[in-house]
Amino acid sequence: MKENSEPSRRGFLKKLGTAGAAVALGSNVFARDSKSGLFTYLKRANSVSANDHINFALIGAGGQGSSDTQTALQIPGVKLVAVCDLYDGRLADAKKRWGNDLFTTKSYKEILNRPDIDAVIIGTPDHWHQQISIDAMHAGKHVYCEKPMVHGITEGPAVIKAQKETGKVFQVGSQGVSSLGNEKAKELLASGAIGQLNYAEGFWARRGAVEVWEYPIPADASPQTVDWDTYVSNTHKRPFDEKRFFRWRNYVDYGTGMCGDLFVHLFSSLHFITGSYGPEKIYAAGGLRFWNDGREVPDVLLGTFDYGKSVVHPAFNLSLRCNFVDGTSGTTYLRLVGSEGAMDITWDQVVLKRNKTFESDDPFYAEKMRNAGDTNPVRKKMLPPEQITFDAEKGYLGGPYDHMNNFFNAIRTNGKVTEDAIFGYRAAAPALLCNDSYFNNVPMHWDPEKMVVVKS
Ligand SMILES: NC(=O)c1ccc[n+]([C@@H]2O[C@H](COP(=O)([O-])OP(=O)(O)OC[C@H]3O[C@@H](n4cnc5c(N)ncnc54)[C@H](O)[C@@H]3O)[C@@H](O)[C@H]2O)c1
Repeated sequence: MKENSEPSRRGFLKKLGTAGAAVALGSNVFARDSKSGLFTYLKRANSVSANDHINFALIGAGGQGSSDTQTALQIPGVKLVAVCDLYDGRLADAKKRWGNDLFTTKSYKEILNRPDIDAVIIGTPDHWHQQISIDAMHAGKHVYCEKPMVHGITEGPAVIKAQKETGKVFQVGSQGVSSLGNEKAKELLASGAIGQLNYAEGFWARRGAVEVWEYPIPADASPQTVDWDTYVSNTHKRPFDEKRFFRWRNYVDYGTGMCGDLFVHLFSSLHFITGSYGPEKIYAAGGLRFWNDGREVPDVLLGTFDYGKSVVHPAFNLSLRCNFVDGTSGTTYLRLVGSEGAMDITWDQVVLKRNKTFESDDPFYAEKMRNAGDTNPVRKKMLPPEQITFDAEKGYLGGPYDHMNNFFNAIRTNGKVTEDAIFGYRAAAPALLCNDSYFNNVPMHWDPEKMVVVKS
């Protein structure tokens, strides 16, 4: 047995900011597990024996599938044996990168038929997620499927059913939910660090061509190098169109717009941190303002979401915004706001800001407040909030590693993953309904517990 030498999560909660807060914010979220005595991080990254060897294949070897594969290959006892993609160039790249003995194919069914493959990573465009996930689980494979779990709102229940029926491990790829930053935010919220949650917001600003989905198209792109017929076999049939293949995010037959691409990450993190099942009401506005390149989806989008009161959180509102025409420096954030403060959350950092007040005995101030109609005998004055920064310790391997490790560990231990099919569907659904709201110009209503669209 080889001991895995990953850094402990213990050091994460180093307080780098200003003076101590009045509430117990905790300097170590990763309490010892009462049974194993290990810290959470070490417990997840347990040791590997020869029998724990796992063979996996990649289906969809583009940007994210390749990145997921690199992450998976950092995990001890895990081997890549096969790659499937519909474009020759991707298969050639895979051999160059991971070795000439790799089995490559354009048919994912050939991958599923191989008995030596235990698990698959699905990194195809969104319109293939459901079908390949279900086929893979029924073929006895564990599945790591990229987000959003499904392409359309009606597709989720069949994936949940397949996971239940087959008992296979199924993880959706919103890697932030396994990160130290999300875990710390969850602990802080539960400890009352920002008081009562009432509002959350997320924002992305982009401008560069590749960032806004104008990807380069390879010089050899043609029906000879791309299996176009398979690509469109589960959606509208059209003649070969290189833009629809290499810039698929811009078209509704294959992608899910800004909501499925970006909002879904924030739904996943928000639901993990708050324990929420999702919003009840969804409304979107936006437009195509700049990128008139034939795309079918907006390049500026605003979504508002009403979260009803539940047993784990009060009612609150969420605002998500995305701007692909942002001429400033660009920014991305997730912020939770409560009655006593707010926190900005990333995968390896949480910045907590807490209200500060002091009681004033200044007669001039008291008089001014009385004249302004304040009858409160205690004169409280707001000060700029105190700020406390929690950073992941040096050497932290990051959310993507933790999420992938969570997947392979669940396979080895017959354990649970952070983002199973139900969680994945509850994160994808409000994003997909946001698209429905935008395209149909109506608010959408959703029952997050039963996971059904409510007709208004
Ligand atoms: N978790 C994240 O942070 C993150 C980041 C980026 C993308 N993604 C997700 O990953 C997926 C892929 O995105 P990308 O940016 O890597 O796109 P990409 O275009 O770079 O890669 C997609 C690949 O899938 C191949 N493909 C298409 N249909 C296929 C099929 N039926 N069978 C096999 N291969 C097929 C294409 O040839 C291409 O190589 C999307 O669902 C996206 O939302 C997740």
